[in-house]
Amino acid sequence: MPLDIIVGTQWGDEGKGRIVDLLAAEADAVARYSGGDNAGHTVTVGDQIFKLHLIPSGVVHPHAQAFIGNGVVINPATLLSEIEQIQQAGIEVHPQRLFISYAAHLITAGHLALDRAQEAARGKAKIGTTLRGIGPAYTDKVARRGLRLELMRDEKRFVAALREHFETVNQLLQRLYQEEALDVEPLITEYVGYAQAIKPYIADVSALIAEALAGGKRVLAEGAQGTLLDLDHGTYPFVTSSYPTAPGALLGLGLGAACVDRVIGVTKAFQTRVGAGPFPTEVFDQTANHLRGSGANPWDEFGTTTGRPRRVGWLDLVLLRYAIRVNGISELALTKLDILSGFNEIKLCVAYQADDHSYQIPPFGPTELDSFKPVYQVLAGWKEEIRSCRRWEDLPLNARQYIRTIEEACQVPIKRISVGPERKDVIVLA
Ligand code: GDP
Ligand code: IMO
Ligand code: MG
Repeated sequence: MPLDIIVGTQWGDEGKGRIVDLLAAEADAVARYSGGDNAGHTVTVGDQIFKLHLIPSGVVHPHAQAFIGNGVVINPATLLSEIEQIQQAGIEVHPQRLFISYAAHLITAGHLALDRAQEAARGKAKIGTTLRGIGPAYTDKVARRGLRLELMRDEKRFVAALREHFETVNQLLQRLYQEEALDVEPLITEYVGYAQAIKPYIADVSALIAEALAGGKRVLAEGAQGTLLDLDHGTYPFVTSSYPTAPGALLGLGLGAACVDRVIGVTKAFQTRVGAGPFPTEVFDQTANHLRGSGANPWDEFGTTTGRPRRVGWLDLVLLRYAIRVNGISELALTKLDILSGFNEIKLCVAYQADDHSYQIPPFGPTELDSFKPVYQVLAGWKEEIRSCRRWEDLPLNARQYIRTIEEACQVPIKRISVGPERKDVIVLA
């Protein structure tokens, strides 16, 4: 059955939104399966730039249905303002088009306050979260005291659950973090208001997608974050609190493995990371300025959600091979190749060195990465602007060599090469 899963292979911001937008043209539905509004997915159509945080990027295509699965955590305030913004941009969002799982969990003002308090308490060891309340909301889910969307359908139960939740949060804020308590009653009124607006969108997403797939419809599962931010498979503890990897799509939508067709890994032509944590191929100075950009272009490496400058570095094939393994990636989409134009030399990390050993894949997953030295293969760069390239033959020889080197090192075909942010800026390979 035709479920395609789109996953980020790095630390997020690989250009997943851009690739989802390409594939959504041929899909019937797009579904978000993990994370929350810590995500920021950019879709550029002509002079319109859409930045989506919770609603699947495929919504930009008028024919596509949109789903938000049980694996997602939802801040109702940001959901409603995103719906409004998208509607204002001329895109239809209504309960016959957007369906949100009853089993998705809510992010509240309490989770936001706890995220801030926990980050402050970590001091130098802070994770650099997006402060969107993600960790605390998933903590409540795992602790079996979370607020699922289904509660919004029953006001009495919802009010009782909210009161208990905010009181627990206040205990933590005051006793553990010496922070001010939240004013509970106005918050309850606020969240009951959100429930009225969100109730019509609540649905059995697992059942609806299963039905669509059984009817031969093509569904795209849109990953948020990236493999190296996965709670289990990422650079723990510098990770998010969900499962962005491909199996997370099945868990987070309520589907079985037999429905998967392709697993498409999105890889930036270099490496970026926002927030703290190891980054073996990180670069600084002039090279970093080139990769990051000044901030003048919409695609420069500054966070879509937080505006923070992203850390940048050379593409790390050791971590890419690892991502291919843990996701079961069947094909890759390479983005932002255009940004590499203008370098005399381009480096690719092909192995890690520690003592006398060389590693093709990190021996204990992406942990203790600081103990390895990246081994680089240095390739000749190219000067040409490549944004207008539409066929493989249009690319400079050295750019083709760069792509072939990645493919050979990973043994997975690169089927799409993105050479600019717009829909048309792509080379599709057979
Ligand atoms: P996501 O979180 O994985 O969806 O990625 P983001 O949207 O946060 O960041 C990717 C940025 O790069 C966005 O501004 C995209 O518009 C932009 N982008 C995507 N592909 C390309 C590309 O091939 N070239 C350029 N120049 N920009 C791109
Ligand atoms: P998209 O979907 C990049 C990072 C944060 C932080 C860590 C934990 O746009 O690729 P959290 O708020 O989730 O508890 O923060 O994860 N992070 C992202 N980095 N892109 C994202 O999403 C991210 N979502 C979370 O910067 O390091
Ligand atoms: Mg992003």
